[in-house]
Amino acid sequence: TETLKEAFEGKFHIGAALSANHINNQGQASMEVLNTHFNSIVAENNMKSGMIQIREGEFNFDVADKFIEYGEANDMHIVGHTLIWHSQAPRWFFTDSDGNTVSPEVLAQRMKDHIHTVVGRYKGKVKGWDVVNEAILDDGSWRKSKFYEILGEDFMKLAFQFAHEADPEAELYYNDFSMAQPGKREGVVKMVKNLQAQGVKIDGIGMQGHIGLEHPKIQEFEKSILAYSELGVTVMITELDLSVLPSPRRDMGAEISTNIEYQQSLNPYTEGLPEDVQKQFDERYLAFFKLFLDHHDKISRVTLWGINDGDSWKNGWPVRGRTDYPLLFNRDNTPKSIVKDLIE
Ligand code: XIL
Repeated sequence: TETLKEAFEGKFHIGAALSANHINNQGQASMEVLNTHFNSIVAENNMKSGMIQIREGEFNFDVADKFIEYGEANDMHIVGHTLIWHSQAPRWFFTDSDGNTVSPEVLAQRMKDHIHTVVGRYKGKVKGWDVVNEAILDDGSWRKSKFYEILGEDFMKLAFQFAHEADPEAELYYNDFSMAQPGKREGVVKMVKNLQAQGVKIDGIGMQGHIGLEHPKIQEFEKSILAYSELGVTVMITELDLSVLPSPRRDMGAEISTNIEYQQSLNPYTEGLPEDVQKQFDERYLAFFKLFLDHHDKISRVTLWGINDGDSWKNGWPVRGRTDYPLLFNRDNTPKSIVKDLIE
């Protein structure tokens, strides 16, 4: 085969996240890479609640509509990201005009309006939705988000019910990071079983794949694929990228911005990757893809969080202004050697 999508045909969709820049400048070279190698897309930011419903009842679908049009015109499997998330959510969602926290009834109504409007608009076009994003912590307990504070665990069930009402055909997913952590695995399994016991429709679990050269352990990742699959839902690797950069020490705090030497040590590869790191990168990516291929009967999609290295949020997070190499295509859109290995 000659392309990634051919290599994975009959196994899983291979997707990429599109930024506003991709969507607005469709003539750029990375879009050709997308069309050649990928058959699924998700919006990196433009369908999050904070982007779509800036003020109550005031929706802006400009970029999201273009994204959907592009997907339809190019025969892409379109994924919606994300309906209910504590981050990149508008602040008005949780407060009344006096700035007080709203009642459970008001928040539920706002969730319903938001979900019905967004899911309803793209009914039949978006094949699956990340209904709730990042609600369980690494120790398996609930994140104390505004949704949880105001509505308790029920916000999860409500979100899935509202999404199902708006598009009964759409697949509905729970999506989260650190999904290979044993504590999180247990918490997510328990949460999903609880939804299922209440008759709530949930079709899939998204494991964000923001991995590093060391973590997570591939065995733990595999355990999670198996545990989630045993729930009778599909598993997806939803936000794959492999950062080669060191994580900042948590205890450095604000000192990071003043300690120039330390800052530079966090950004060691501005001129390209040394051979040994490149080798580690290749081996690690191959090992993960081998894992996905071994379990392709359980995995319906693998989505990269961007097209080429220049796109990646990892250049700006958790430290700004770095040069990372987390994706499958170089900044000049040439395929990395790992792409050739996967295609052969
Ligand atoms: C990230 C985007 O890539 C960035 O551009 C943005 O500034 C912050 O959000 N988990 C998710 C994604 O579910 O939506 C996040 O995307 C990355 C972590």
